Amino acid sequence: MPAPEQEKLHILIRHAAIEKRVRAVALQITRDFRGERVHLIGVLKGACIFLSDLVREINLDTSIDFIAVSSYGRGKDSSGQVRLLKDLDTSIKGLNVILVEDILDTGLTLSYLLRVLRQRKPKSLRVAALLDKPARRLKPVKGDYVGFTIPNDFVVGYGLDYAEKYRNLDDICVMGDGA
Ligand code: IMP
Ligand code: MG
Repeated sequence: MPAPEQEKLHILIRHAAIEKRVRAVALQITRDFRGERVHLIGVLKGACIFLSDLVREINLDTSIDFIAVSSYGRGKDSSGQVRLLKDLDTSIKGLNVILVEDILDTGLTLSYLLRVLRQRKPKSLRVAALLDKPARRLKPVKGDYVGFTIPNDFVVGYGLDYAEKYRNLDDICVMGDGA
């Protein structure tokens, strides 16, 4: 849905630009893994919209799974503690895994997940992140496929939430203080 006008939201990245960039990222993945299968692991819940669009643009054999972690409460700041809430359904041993994240912020979530997934011996392990907010990094992690690098603002929409709201916005919007 479009961004509600009464809220303190302003559009940072329009849906058309997201679509175009997601297609480009999918093309890059398709080229990098030509002739192979890729196993996409979406980090719930923020990555679900990005993953759904991304996987449909990848021209390879694919499979998907989901994992859920919690590091954030209901607000905007990380508690710094990452907990596994839902594990994968199937083994990733020997697979080309692409971990699909909504946003790389402090990097705490990603460094925890990479550690957990590496122990399970995938053939390869890469990271696709829709957004990257490098200004807040606490752990030195990087995405292999990054949609957009953004400034240090809290964003919602296209899967990203504030207290579970706004995941259904078409555009990525910056949320002002007091919203
Ligand atoms: P990290 O562990 O700090 O890198 O945080 C990663 C998670 O925090 C993301 O997967 C998001 O769920 C959440 N997050 C970080 N920044 C934002 C934001 O600007 N808007 C909404 N969620 C965010
Ligand atoms: Mg997330």
